[in-house]
Amino acid sequence: MGEQGEKTSVRVGAIGLSGRGSGQMCEMLNIPGVVVPAVCDVYEDRALHGAELATKKQGSRPAVYLDYKEMLAKEQLDAILCCTTWITHAEIAVTAMQAGLDVAIEVGGAASEEECWEMVRTSRATGKFCMLLENCCYDRSEMALFRMVREGVFGEVVHLEGGYRHDLRDEIAYGKEIRHGRLQNFIRRNGELYPTHQLGPIAKMIGINRGNRFLTLSSIASKARGLHAFLQHEKGEDYYLANQIFSQGDVVDTTITCAGGETIHLVHDCTLPRPYSRGYVVEGTKAVFQEAPLGSAIYIDNVSPKQHEWESFDPYCQAYEHPLWQAYRDTGVHAGGHGGMDYLVLSAFIESVQLGAPPPIDVYDTAAWMAVTYLSEQSVAMGGTPVPFPDFTNGRWIDREPYRRGRYCLEEV
Ligand SMILES: NC(=O)c1ccc[n+]([C@@H]2O[C@H](COP(=O)([O-])OP(=O)(O)OC[C@H]3O[C@@H](n4cnc5c(N)ncnc54)[C@H](O)[C@@H]3O)[C@@H](O)[C@H]2O)c1
Repeated sequence: MGEQGEKTSVRVGAIGLSGRGSGQMCEMLNIPGVVVPAVCDVYEDRALHGAELATKKQGSRPAVYLDYKEMLAKEQLDAILCCTTWITHAEIAVTAMQAGLDVAIEVGGAASEEECWEMVRTSRATGKFCMLLENCCYDRSEMALFRMVREGVFGEVVHLEGGYRHDLRDEIAYGKEIRHGRLQNFIRRNGELYPTHQLGPIAKMIGINRGNRFLTLSSIASKARGLHAFLQHEKGEDYYLANQIFSQGDVVDTTITCAGGETIHLVHDCTLPRPYSRGYVVEGTKAVFQEAPLGSAIYIDNVSPKQHEWESFDPYCQAYEHPLWQAYRDTGVHAGGHGGMDYLVLSAFIESVQLGAPPPIDVYDTAAWMAVTYLSEQSVAMGGTPVPFPDFTNGRWIDREPYRRGRYCLEEV
């Protein structure tokens, strides 16, 4: 995607260098202009490993820190890549924006309303941006669907569904051994812990924060049995978590209502045996799309060959390929993370830093999408009671400044 190579270099400090952080840092180093002069993790071995990886990719060794505040104080940086544990994202983002840096944070939910507001207010006060790295917004299939919606194939969109349905029992249950952040969340919290993979593309599709907004949310949680059964089977009675009570329900259902009249249904489902799915559904007055176990399907009223029968989505995914993906394929899809969408979301971030221009996923999107987590925890705790959604735009959603056009734009095709 050559153009970025002609632009200024971007000095990125990488914070959080476990599996995801080291992968994202290396992916980012594939983008022309990116250098990583400093890396940081509270675990020294991970920080050192991250430094080794960066040295191999860029030919110069980054400085190594165990304290990100020290890194911010000592290094000359333009931006931060934050791939730490969920409950640390907002604090690191706020501190980095206060230090004059643009910030990319990996996905995860917010623990409180306050941390969402802090991100919004700090971004407004400093003029620096905070972009949630929601890679699924740049998935090929999600982008083709976005184009189909913008071109009217679905008519008026009425209802959407999505989920994070990912069997992560080993990653969660062995969190102590592998020093992974998820375990304590599943022991102590109960809600929609990972809302953004499908909510991001959905929110962009229906103009959330730009003419539309989330109004209310209600969540209910099933009982929590998956991790216990898994550990009993894998580790037996003597394992230290054998009798642990997990708070996080195996399946958490969330319904969001929107000012535009749409309803959104999200499912969080990570502790029962199942193949991966994001369970995407888009339903409008003219068509319906459904991600299905054996291949996604679509039905278009008066267009699909047989009435009331699904047809394969594959030909539509090709016919409506988003121009960003067309360009990406022309230059040869980079073989990196998650089929290319990681490279695209990181490229979108770097382009915004280079241009000093608003990112396609801004701090209002970041705050609203992350807020689902703490709101759902409140709703679950109250037996599914609907809770009001804060308006992090403070009313601006009815009349926002124009979005920035460009190849990574998620508002128009
Ligand atoms: N978008 C995707 O497809 C995708 C995929 C995997 C993970 N993720 C996200 O990436 C993030 C990291 O995931 P992971 O699996 O690598 O998690 P992890 O728990 O294995 O690693 C988090 C790392 O952050 C470090 N850390 C925590 N607080 C820190 C601080 N204050 N300063 C410096 N380092 C700190 C920890 O020491 C750890 O090494 C999470 O938000 C996760 O949800 C996204």
